[in-house]
Amino acid sequence: ERLKAMERPLLTWYSKHARALPWRDRPDPYRVWISEIMLQQTRVEAVKPYYERFIGDLPGIRELAAVPEDRLLKLWEGLGYYTRAKNLKKTAELLVEQYGGELPASYEELKKLPGIGSYTAGAIASIAYGIPVPAVDGNVLRVVSRVTGSREDILKQSVKTRMEEELKAVMPEEAASSYNQGLIEIGAIVCVPNGPPLCSQCPLASLCVARIKGLIGEIPVKTPK
Ligand code: ADE
Repeated sequence: ERLKAMERPLLTWYSKHARALPWRDRPDPYRVWISEIMLQQTRVEAVKPYYERFIGDLPGIRELAAVPEDRLLKLWEGLGYYTRAKNLKKTAELLVEQYGGELPASYEELKKLPGIGSYTAGAIASIAYGIPVPAVDGNVLRVVSRVTGSREDILKQSVKTRMEEELKAVMPEEAASSYNQGLIEIGAIVCVPNGPPLCSQCPLASLCVARIKGLIGEIPVKTPK
């Protein structure tokens, strides 16, 4: 169906258009985790220098678990939402004490960790471990609801859960990382959240129900809670 048809154009497009981002160089689980937490409430361009400095100072889970709080907060200063930094350190301590100092190579185990929800667990599992599970964030909700022409409210947990199930059923077993990052990337630079999407550059345009029916301005639906 329409979702399965996204795969080839998406992977081809991503192989050509993926931005060179520092966390894409060497996507080990720790680096993916740190980058995804930073990216949760902060723009890519703002994250870049913070990410480089953070990884340079604290290159792994054990260093993060042992860092004094004042040094941690200095590394985070300017990014905002400081509980993110404190939760990272707490989780690193837990990983050292109970998981042998490593992030588990399991989507379900990752989801049990503090601060790691279904999106972050999916990102770490797929990008760092190649496990074929989806990583549905706001970008992916927007892109996929436009492609399918869905007028369901993307702020509803049930809508996100159903999209996770549907993507899991169609995503490629052997290219989970590029598939998920391709959807995120289209949402970030083509099917943008503010202003008109750049459909002329979109590899999914010929499939996209919202574009074909002229519903771009109406999808995604976000009913204020
Ligand atoms: N936003 C959230 N995760 C991202 C990623 N892995 N690459 C680019 N933008 C992102």
